[in-house]
Amino acid sequence: MGECGLVSIAICSCCFFSSTCANKYGVINPDVGTLLYHLASKIKLQISHNIALLSKLVAERKLDTTQRIDAALEYLLQNIEGTVSVEKLEKHCGVGVVVTPEEIEREVEILIKKHKDEILEKRYRFNSGPLMQEVRKILQWADGKAVKSEIEIQLLVLLGPKSETDLAPVSKQKQVKAKPAVKKSDKMDEKTEKIEEEKSSEARTISELMKTKVHFHKPGENYKTEGYVITPNTHNLLKEHLKVTGGKVRTRFPPEPNGILHIGHAKAININFGYAEAHDGVCYLRYDDTNPEKEEEKFFIAIREMVEWLGYKPAKITYSSDNFQQLYEWAIKLIEKGLAYVCHQKSEEMKGFNPPPSPWRERPISESLQLFQDMKNGKLEEGEATLRMKLTLEEGKQDPVAYRIKYFPHHRTGDQWCIYPTYDYTHCLCDSLENITHSLCTKEFQSRRSSYYWLCNALDIYCPVQWEYGRLNVGYTVVSKRKIAKLIDEGFVNDWDDPRLFTLTALRRRGFPAEAINNFCAQMGVTGAQVVVDPAALEAAVRDVLNITAPRMMAVLNPVRVTISNYSDEGPRTINVPDFPSEPEKGRHDIIFDDTVYIEESDFKENAEKGFRRLTPNQSVGLKHAGVVITLQSVEKDASGNITNLIVKQQAVSDTNKPKAFIHWVAKPSLASVRLYEPLFRHKNPEDQNEVPNGYLSDINSQSKKEVVGYVDAGILDNAKPFTQYQFERIGFFSVDPDTKPGKLVFNRTVTLKEDSAKV
Ligand SMILES: *[C@@H]1O[C@H](CO)[C@@H](O)[C@H](O)[C@H]1NC(C)=O
Ligand SMILES: *[C@@H]1O[C@H](CO)[C@@H](O)[C@H](O)[C@H]1NC(C)=O
Ligand SMILES: *[C@@H]1O[C@H](CO)[C@@H](O)[C@H](O)[C@H]1NC(C)=O
Ligand SMILES: *[C@@H]1O[C@H](CO)[C@@H](O)[C@H](O)[C@H]1NC(C)=O
Ligand SMILES: *[C@@H]1O[C@H](CO)[C@@H](O)[C@H](O)[C@H]1NC(C)=O
Ligand SMILES: *[C@@H]1O[C@H](CO)[C@@H](O)[C@H](O)[C@H]1NC(C)=O
Repeated sequence: MGECGLVSIAICSCCFFSSTCANKYGVINPDVGTLLYHLASKIKLQISHNIALLSKLVAERKLDTTQRIDAALEYLLQNIEGTVSVEKLEKHCGVGVVVTPEEIEREVEILIKKHKDEILEKRYRFNSGPLMQEVRKILQWADGKAVKSEIEIQLLVLLGPKSETDLAPVSKQKQVKAKPAVKKSDKMDEKTEKIEEEKSSEARTISELMKTKVHFHKPGENYKTEGYVITPNTHNLLKEHLKVTGGKVRTRFPPEPNGILHIGHAKAININFGYAEAHDGVCYLRYDDTNPEKEEEKFFIAIREMVEWLGYKPAKITYSSDNFQQLYEWAIKLIEKGLAYVCHQKSEEMKGFNPPPSPWRERPISESLQLFQDMKNGKLEEGEATLRMKLTLEEGKQDPVAYRIKYFPHHRTGDQWCIYPTYDYTHCLCDSLENITHSLCTKEFQSRRSSYYWLCNALDIYCPVQWEYGRLNVGYTVVSKRKIAKLIDEGFVNDWDDPRLFTLTALRRRGFPAEAINNFCAQMGVTGAQVVVDPAALEAAVRDVLNITAPRMMAVLNPVRVTISNYSDEGPRTINVPDFPSEPEKGRHDIIFDDTVYIEESDFKENAEKGFRRLTPNQSVGLKHAGVVITLQSVEKDASGNITNLIVKQQAVSDTNKPKAFIHWVAKPSLASVRLYEPLFRHKNPEDQNEVPNGYLSDINSQSKKEVVGYVDAGILDNAKPFTQYQFERIGFFSVDPDTKPGKLVFNRTVTLKEDSAKV
């Protein structure tokens, strides 16, 4: 027996069992082994000193199921202070409670009866997961496997063997559409993968994602999370914290107000606001304004506008700078405790992988206190001194900087300060001050987690829990502020909100509905993996929303004139058509039919290849909504051989006269300028040296913006308010541009109808 009091088994590389316990008892019972494995993989650092006790209980078959082990771990986390009462622990885990097969059978019977109608309707597609949970609610210590097989048996008795329809694949409609093209980055650290997410099915909305797929700790149960550091005062602080928050979730979205928000921020906004909203909590918008040089009023306004555009309302707007005084006082406290010191290394010296340790690390506390005063009072030059914390970050970086000198007036505090706190120092302290329950941030900050906990604990203040999620990157674009600025300067795009960019203002301008962006973020999930998503996945989410909200119209972008030689009506005819063919009750509009109509140039071919289903010299085609089929009689051309007119005859559509296809058309048209956008870059990763050796500016797609003059139905004019969105049948989704004037409509294309739609 080794020092941990346990039988031999190599459990896992990070296990708590010392090697000295190996090979004493030889082989152990495989069930016990499985349970020990479960124990080793679930136990958290903060209760790992109980490992010997727990393993003993497993070996004695007192903790004989994974549920009992989970209950034991739960109990220990709840009762982290004081000594463990084994009796109470066993009671909590139901040690000795026996659930008989008869009891299980009875409970399953009752539940199956209760859900009988639904089961008969859905048959084997009935989801029995919730039944299992219900049984467990009543028979807490029932064995999971036994319950599952009992349910299966009773379902079989009720439904009989599976029929052919039971075995047929689920109908297309139910399958999740537009599976995003997600590329996982090569490295995903399993052990540090923090956010448990069920990957089996995607969520469609943020609310669904946050309610069903994300399992963060409950407010006040911070200590249950992996890696959380517990101090003697933790439980008191948590109690205080719960009093203030009333046990509600409190998150924050903390952008630095020094740039424009982009699609990646949309994820941060959705995760922070979405998590709070889904759990009846609140979310603050906190401007992390600690770098005075980079801040401008316009960024503050734009950030707030975008948060609101995405549909969220901050419970409160706060500023890191509001806490400058408190942060300063805490810095003094750290110095007094010997946990921070003033350093004179130059910033170049501190850079790189393995910078030399600071020679000032051990200077007397009184000296650091005096120098910090001097820093604050403007007695030192910029770069001459910093305040550093005595701690080592995960990646080995030593003593991160807490304060630096900057002679630059601050947007809100003016000249009051010439020392400014860093992200590492400010972030966790502001989270603590605001009593944030879940500090949600992107994966890059995982390496700052220990410093986060260290600092809160060094100051003996409430310590929130940091959770990381995967950053969202979209391909075929750049999002860095500097790079976009360059694109604007060089005239490749017009401004920060040019519809070809992926800033949030640009997406709004292009007509992407906020709902679609939020759904897209939900589809991406919260996992810790780095992803580069193809914009096609975002466009698919946009189509899903616009398909339901954008009424249909007919427009022809490359018109060819068609004359109907035996037009039957006297003058133009008005046809009333539904805005949404599959849901006619949602509204209707009028279109005009006449002896001259315009069709898309590409819908006619003189020499058609096989499989072309539209108009050819010997193939008729139907005109949508008009109820007629047209057949070509002759083609008129100009001197250069271009088609100027197609002379056709019309016939009513009937059972015996059905064309292969129906095309869109416009009669009595209004002119419209239509702007068509394509990806700004030709490569998915324009910033990647290998993909684009000459830099992102060399990768611009010169065809990324085109403008064509087309025809739209005159009826559209009445409703063409700027930003109204339409689906041009068979072409795509378009929004009315504010440049629209009477007699001249302007549209921007939001997305094409299908991912691979023909380019116009
Ligand atoms: C945070 O909680 C502390 C007590 O733990 C309280 O004094 C303080 O007012 C709270 N601040 C906010 C913004 O909720
Ligand atoms: C658009 O919505 C209709 C139902 O209103 C549906 O039948 C159709 O498949 C949808 N199209 C796309 C591209 O999602
Ligand atoms: C137009 O001509 C076609 C073909 O000759 C004929 O079938 C159709 O009835 C005519 N329609 C009218 C309205 O004259
Ligand atoms: C239509 O005409 C093309 C050539 O213009 C010919 O190849 C094709 O076989 C014709 N189809 C029919 C159905 O007559
Ligand atoms: C004929 O069509 C070509 C290609 O679409 C175009 O460049 C040319 O200007 C047209 N000619 C006339 C006289 O419209
Ligand atoms: C259309 O694009 C132009 C820039 O090309 C932009 O100025 C305008 O705001 C856009 N309009 C809409 C409704 O997206």
